[in-house]
Amino acid sequence: MLSPHLLCSIALIATCLLAESPKDRDYNQPYRPQFHFSPRVNWTNDPNGLVYFEGEYHIFFQYNPFGDQWGHMSWGHAVSSDLVHWKELPVAIPEGDGVMIFTGSTVVDRNNTSGFCTGGKPCLVAVYTGHTPELAAGKTLQTQNLAYSNDRGRTWTKFSGNPVLDLHMSDFRDPKVFWSEQGKHWVMAVSLPDEHKVRFYGSADLKKWEHLSDFGPEGAASGQWECPELFELPVDGHATHTRWVLKVGLNPGALQGGSGEQYFVGHFDGKRFVNDNPPSLQLWTDYGKDCYCALTFNGLPKSPSPTHPQTQPLTPVQTMIGWMNNWQYAGKLPTSPWRGQMTFPRKLSLHTTSDGLRLIQLPSDAITKLHRQPFTRFIGNEKEINKYLAGHNRGDKMIDLTSTITLGGAKEAGLRLLWGEGAYTQVGYNIERKELFIDRTNSGEDGFSADFPARVSAPLALANPGQLQLRILVDRSSIEVFAEHGRLVMTELVFPKQNSRKLAVYSDGGKLAGASIRIWTVASIW
Ligand code: FRU
Repeated sequence: MLSPHLLCSIALIATCLLAESPKDRDYNQPYRPQFHFSPRVNWTNDPNGLVYFEGEYHIFFQYNPFGDQWGHMSWGHAVSSDLVHWKELPVAIPEGDGVMIFTGSTVVDRNNTSGFCTGGKPCLVAVYTGHTPELAAGKTLQTQNLAYSNDRGRTWTKFSGNPVLDLHMSDFRDPKVFWSEQGKHWVMAVSLPDEHKVRFYGSADLKKWEHLSDFGPEGAASGQWECPELFELPVDGHATHTRWVLKVGLNPGALQGGSGEQYFVGHFDGKRFVNDNPPSLQLWTDYGKDCYCALTFNGLPKSPSPTHPQTQPLTPVQTMIGWMNNWQYAGKLPTSPWRGQMTFPRKLSLHTTSDGLRLIQLPSDAITKLHRQPFTRFIGNEKEINKYLAGHNRGDKMIDLTSTITLGGAKEAGLRLLWGEGAYTQVGYNIERKELFIDRTNSGEDGFSADFPARVSAPLALANPGQLQLRILVDRSSIEVFAEHGRLVMTELVFPKQNSRKLAVYSDGGKLAGASIRIWTVASIW
């Protein structure tokens, strides 16, 4: 006979086995993103310091370790080996001595230019804005600072010589640093928010910085300029023919209200960025309301060109992640115990269009790791497709969808997503106005801010007139639309009802001629 003691232990083990898994407990709330990064608990805003190093992708992020509102800004940290499954680690760089750790970037110091690296090996150096809220004089101070890690980002030491750049200004922030082959030095792009300028500095050792040039104001110049980002991209897949993209966040005053981001295409010689387009031209990286302070990875491995694998030199696939949010309502989102999430990683390229060179964004190919059952691949008219779609119950909300809609006689056509319990989000194209739009005015929970329930639109000339091409990622609380093979991107948060899972093609003002649709269900990363 088993002793009472042993019986008790068996009962305990059984209870443990039946208990909720960490995923259910921590990552399974109704609005919890299932394939987008969000911290387990508490507040996040901008992604910071994206870097690939020794087989790991690192995401750092603006984080409040003590609550679900902005405050005590520190760098949270998570790592991934495949760009989709993230493991959250302890806070990397905490607020300290009255100085918050604002947005910045991380570089791999391969040749120990900084003198921080030990053991003859490369180390990671983070360059961030130190934000001192109120000095005795009642003024805030923002300066640029360093921290370094010799153990693959697990522990960080703030440089004893901080700050490395101090203009005695209240607004001077968000350094993006990278190694410039052209300049043969480190380059920092940093924002002078109120002047609507990006200032460039150069350095041999990351510690002493020399002013190189200023860019701006150009394009859209309202609100404050934040989170500058500068990166080089091959033109039409030709690695030897490149241009530079300078991206700048604006808050408030962006295209769709609140925060948003614009970009410029031009030349960078290691010292100065020159816009190829007239200063008045405004180009937006995202035409939705919810993509801000996006950052690209430093240190990405080089891979063969997808278009010219034999003949082109190896280049990294530039990959960008943004904060999927808007300062208009970021503090009011109806989520708990976390607040804030990131976009899915996007691969970037530059393509020649009839309007000139434009940024193309598509979901990173890493998403294929999450694809499950291609339950639908269907071509037909509206009625046939919808009958087919209605017959499939997907169980959860996450999908990766590709669709081509032949507009025919319709004035407006598109997709109704996250539909059920009387709510849905509409992604559609208005043919007369030549506009793509997302309408979330009846998307579910939206009463937390008057700025949330909106219909936002963007000008879009179809490459193949009469045919709309869409790729859409749907998670439990977001929709990312990549139209016309990534030529126009719209990102929107939504808070659908529990059973809003249906999907349908719709048309208005006439009949659409037909559509093809392919849907992958997407697995949870948690
Ligand atoms: C942008 C921003 C940055 C700043 C950070 C503070 O969202 O305002 O300019 O560094 O957030 O959290």
